[in-house]
Amino acid sequence: MTSLTISTPCDWHVHLRQGETLKTVAPETARLFGMCMVMPNTTPPVRDIDSLFAYGRECGNALRQTPLRAVFAIRLDDRTTPELVTECKKLDWAVAFKLYPDGVTTNSHGTGLTTDVLWNALTDRRSRLYEVLVAMAECRMVLSIHAEAAGLPYLQSELAFLPWIANVMEKFPKLRVVIEHISTVEAARMIRADTTGRLAATVTAHHLLLSCDDVFGKPDHYCKPVCNTNEHRSAIRELVFSGCENVFFGSDSAPHPRSRKTPSCCAAGVFSAPVATETIVGQFVEVGETARLNDFLSRNGCRFYGVQPPTGSVTFIDQPFRIVEASTHPDGFASFLSGQKITWRAADRPASQWHREIE
Ligand code: NCD
Ligand code: ZN
Repeated sequence: MTSLTISTPCDWHVHLRQGETLKTVAPETARLFGMCMVMPNTTPPVRDIDSLFAYGRECGNALRQTPLRAVFAIRLDDRTTPELVTECKKLDWAVAFKLYPDGVTTNSHGTGLTTDVLWNALTDRRSRLYEVLVAMAECRMVLSIHAEAAGLPYLQSELAFLPWIANVMEKFPKLRVVIEHISTVEAARMIRADTTGRLAATVTAHHLLLSCDDVFGKPDHYCKPVCNTNEHRSAIRELVFSGCENVFFGSDSAPHPRSRKTPSCCAAGVFSAPVATETIVGQFVEVGETARLNDFLSRNGCRFYGVQPPTGSVTFIDQPFRIVEASTHPDGFASFLSGQKITWRAADRPASQWHREIE
């Protein structure tokens, strides 16, 4: 095969950041994607109507010259109200509330969503979070979850969070839930076993490619949840490549300046926007499942969120290029797979500043 055309892809989990970083990385996502869901862990976080509109405007400005449509997740925290949920539901570009257990990842401090608060909300009908979950279930606002229990060894933290998800789905029978960037056999099994149609998962390119052995000593590969052992990676691959309608792509592209990706100071996050789609295409070609690419990259997420998929298509050609570290400045961003040769490139699309021709 030397060329392959797919429907315009969607990225259901991306960190576009703010300010100059936003201006640098937004074109990378806009290069290939027709739709993306932008995460709210900014500084300050997107957690009310004012911050949502301000961030929506900032992203809108950065994306003005591009065909990318951005929809947003709002941070769920201990101050979120049911009224905010219903207000946001009226906006067709606010499509999910994102739950970060307090402190488990970059900019997730101060959500107040401790293990106690989360479990209490399942039984205490007077708790704020219980009321918010009722409102979300009623108006079909999606609950997007960073599924890691705080205070546990990293490789066990996702598994430890899954019982809360099973319980919340049972307590709130209309609630729609996405487990973000799954990293374990158990999460993959839970998605496969779901019979309600209300449970979905996003999968990143790096969780398909890396195991924990690739993370040790490599700050650029460090993200939360950490890529787990090969047994877990295989289960996620199996879930994705065998086709499962509630599994879709979320790059979790999360740039951090190089000065914050050193062994002595290592922020969690893999900056994958320059190479994520190319990597996914390459992986599907390798396993001979290209017929499933459109579902994973475009249709499944739009169906789950109830949004119109983007129009158009992207053609990939078998013409290798290399990923480079675009800038040597300490505050530049190193792309996922820097230095590596990538087989599939998008034809007739703007070039990425992280791509170089092979000499
Ligand atoms: C993300 C970031 O840097 O914003 N980091 C990460 O490791 N994935 C936050 C997140 O999605 O956990
Ligand atoms: Zn993320």
